[in-house]
This record gives sequence, structure tokens and C-alpha cells, in this order.
Amino acid sequence: MSAQDNKQARGVFTAKVRSNRKIWPSFYKLLIEFSGDGAEAFARCRPGQFAQFDLSGAALPPDEAIPVDLADSAHRSVLLRRPFSFSDVTVKNSVVFVEVLYGAVGPCSLRMTTLKAADSITVIGPLGTGFSVPQAKKTALLVVGGMGAGPLEHVAKVLTEERPDMQVQAFAGANSAEALPFERRLDELSQGVGFSLAEFARFGIESQVATDDGSAGYRGLVTDCFVEWLEQAHLEAKDAVIFACGPEAMLARIAELARNRNIDCQISMERRMACGIGVCQSCVVECRGENGESAYKLCCKDGPVFNSSEVIFKP
Ligand code: FES
Repeated sequence: MSAQDNKQARGVFTAKVRSNRKIWPSFYKLLIEFSGDGAEAFARCRPGQFAQFDLSGAALPPDEAIPVDLADSAHRSVLLRRPFSFSDVTVKNSVVFVEVLYGAVGPCSLRMTTLKAADSITVIGPLGTGFSVPQAKKTALLVVGGMGAGPLEHVAKVLTEERPDMQVQAFAGANSAEALPFERRLDELSQGVGFSLAEFARFGIESQVATDDGSAGYRGLVTDCFVEWLEQAHLEAKDAVIFACGPEAMLARIAELARNRNIDCQISMERRMACGIGVCQSCVVECRGENGESAYKLCCKDGPVFNSSEVIFKP
């Protein structure tokens, strides 16, 4: 699939909430359902794309359920839509189910936690350019940092459907076991290596877990865990592709690794996005242009997924 295939009709659609589950103390999965034109648009959505959610009508949780560190910011108005990517998209007959992995980290996502089955929500989407699946590759390496898990869960599903012959390996890291946004038990995660993450295991994909504090899996950065694995893997660089989503420091390191080892690499960047449709210019990503000059691209339109070789990371 080429990046061009990512482009499809987008629009303003109303979705119905099917469920909204807490999967770990501060992580949730929202499942929404589209029918009609919305279903048609989201059925073709690619991993890494996103939608702008209008949460201005959603209620805040009661004060006692608001985390202390959000007590002040929680009450800010949420006039702007907020971007969320998808951890799963499922087409069933003429209905499309879209799952969003999110953390309760600010006024919008806190309001999202109060959505319940049968509520309606308005979204603009699908937006942006997502991950593409190169046909010539034999091995896909998924590298997740924290909340970057969602889009790569979606990548895992799409790879399984579109390239069942491909070898896929996942790496997931966070500061601590508490900060890993997966549905699991700590003792299972502590196995560290193998099929410990159900989100990938359900597609037959092995995963390795890394935590900075060593509370689960490999002790250290997921990028270090990834390098150690690469050094033992005997991979042909030309046969492999890396898909990565996570904090910018992690993406910068992955981009450097990919460049040094000549491995193709796609990364999902994050920027504040006010409009999500290329109008407000709030989401600029500095890229390499022709003649060595910088070229400024828009995360919401040209990305959020970029080839890692084109992005300029600041030290
Ligand atoms: Fe407005 Fe990208 S969010 S231009």
C-alpha cells in the first residue's frame, strides 16, 4: 500500500459509544460505532490516522475521581476538538467499530472517561497520513513508547491481515509497569520476553517489554532493549521495516538507529493540533528539504506518520 492510499473521504460524523472501559488505573479503551457515510469513511482508515473528537459536551467526572495533579486544569473549557488515533478498526457488515486507547491526562481525556454506551460523539476524520505496508519487506519491527501503543496495535492487526507471511516482533517500553497502557497483570508482564502482551499475542506476535525502573521486563529504555535484540537477530536490513510511535526522544533514537543500519523506518510524530486539517499551521514538523534546506511539513496532513529519514530532530 502506498501513502497515497491513505487519503480517502473525510467528514464530520456522529458516532455512537458502544463501551468505555478502564483497562489499567489511568488508561481506557473507548469503542465507538459508525454507520452510513461515517462507516464508509472509517472502513478505509489506515493505522496511524486519527480523528478530531469534540468533547465539549461531555461531563467531567465527579471531583473525587479527578486526579490531584489535574484538579486545576480539569475545569478548563474544551472548545477545541482533540486528536485521537485508533488502536483497532473493525468492519462488520455495514457498521464500523473504532477503538481508541487513551489516558486520562488532561481536561479533554478526563471528560472522555465519562462517556457511556449509547452516548453520541461528533468527530472529524479520518485525518492525516498513516503507516504504509511495504510489500517487499519480510520483517516488521514495532517499537512502542508509552501511549504510542494504540496505533501500533492497529498496525499489528493490519499486518496480520495484509501480510500474513511477514515476521513481526513488538517492543514496548515505559517508565514503569504502571505506565504501560496494556490490559494485563504485572506478573504476566514480568516475564519480559515472549507473548506477554495480549494486544500483540492475539495476532501471534511476540513482544518484549522494557521499563526504565525495571518494574517489568528489561530494565532500561525500550530503544536499548531493541538494539540488543537487533544485535542478535541477524536481520537483513533491506528486508526489514520499523514502525515506531512514542515520545519524540524515543523516535529520534529510533531514527538514528534506522539510519545507521539502513533499515526503512516509519515514525508517528506528535504535535499540538488545533484544527487537524491543515489550516491553522499549529503542527509544524521540520523536515529535510531539497538542497539541504529545512522544509516545514504539517503533522496533521503530511503526517502524523513520516519516513524517519526526512524528520529533523533537535538535540
Ligand atoms: Fe491545524 Fe495542523 S493542526 S494545520
